[in-house]
Amino acid sequence: MDAVATPTALKHDLLTGAEWTPAQLRDFFRLAAQIKAHPDGYRSALAGRVLTMIFEKPSLRTRVTFETGIANLGGTVIFLDHTASRLGEREPIRDIAKNLERWVQGIVARVFAQEALDELARNANVPVINALSDKFHPCQALADFFTLEERFGGLRGLKLAYVGDGNNMCHSLLVTGARCGAHVRVATPEGYEPNAAIVAEAKRVARETRGKIEILRAPEEAVSGAQAVYTDVWASMGQESETAKREVTFAAYQVNEALFAQAARDAVFLHCLPAHRGLEVTPGVIDSPHSIIYDQAENRLHVQKAILHTLLT
Ligand code: CP
Ligand code: NVA
Repeated sequence: MDAVATPTALKHDLLTGAEWTPAQLRDFFRLAAQIKAHPDGYRSALAGRVLTMIFEKPSLRTRVTFETGIANLGGTVIFLDHTASRLGEREPIRDIAKNLERWVQGIVARVFAQEALDELARNANVPVINALSDKFHPCQALADFFTLEERFGGLRGLKLAYVGDGNNMCHSLLVTGARCGAHVRVATPEGYEPNAAIVAEAKRVARETRGKIEILRAPEEAVSGAQAVYTDVWASMGQESETAKREVTFAAYQVNEALFAQAARDAVFLHCLPAHRGLEVTPGVIDSPHSIIYDQAENRLHVQKAILHTLLT
C-alpha cells in the first residue's frame, strides 16, 4: 500500500471549510481516496483517542458515519444528545469547552448557531469539527465534491447547479466548489440568496483556481448544461414554522424531470438528505439512475475518516 501523507499545516479545526487552501484540499481528497481503498491500513489511527459528539439537532447520516468512522479508526466516541436544550443554557459554552479539552481529544458538534461552534473552538484546545450549523455543512460538501471527483475524474470546470434555498448547504458548496475550481451556479428565489460575504469569498478563491461562481434567479439558467444538479430542503432544521410559506415561494424551484432534462446528458443528481419527495425534488429525479444520493451518503464515512485523520493524528 502506498503511504499517503497527512496534508500538512492544516488548521486545527474544521468550522467552515474555508480553513483549507485549494492545494490542501487536493491532498485531502487523495487521503480520503486512500482511506476508502485501504481501510485496513488505518484501523489504529485513532487508537486510544476519545471524541465527543454534541448534537443540538437530529441526525442519521452525520451521527452514524462519524461514530462508525471513529470506531473504524480504533477510537471511541461519547455522544451527547443536546436536542432538548441549546448549548450554553445549562452552563456557558466556554466552560463546556474547557472541561471537554481536559478529557477528550476532539469535539464534533451540530449546532443551531455558527457562533456557538466558534465559541467552542476558541475555548477548546482540541480540534472542533462542524457537523452542521445554520451557516455551513462542510463535511457534507467535502463528501459531495469527493463523490463528483470519483464520478467525473476531475473537478476543474465541473458545472454544478444548486437550486433552492441559499442555506448552509449552499454556502458549503460555494466554499468547497471554489477551492476545487468548479463552476458553481446557484439559483434561489428573491430574498433567499446565499450570504453575500460567503459568495464574495468564494468568488475570490475561484479567481485563483479558475473556477466560477454565479448567483442567479432562474433555475433553468443554473441547470442548463450542468453536469451535477443539487438541491436541499426548502425549510431547514429550525425553520419548520416557515414550511407552508416556503412551499409557495420555492414551488418554481422544484427539481423535476422537466428541469433536470435541461442539464447535460450524463448529469447526476445530488441531495444531502433527508429529502422531501414531491417538494424540492420529484421521485422521477431522485430515484432515477441519474441520482447519486447513496454514493454521497457512503462517502460521508470515508471523507470524515480522512477529516479525523487529518486533524487528530
Ligand atoms: N446530510 C446529513 O447531514 O444528514 P443528517 O442530518 O441525517 O446527519
Ligand atoms: N439544510 C438542511 C441540511 C440537512 C442535512 C438543514 O440544515 O436542515
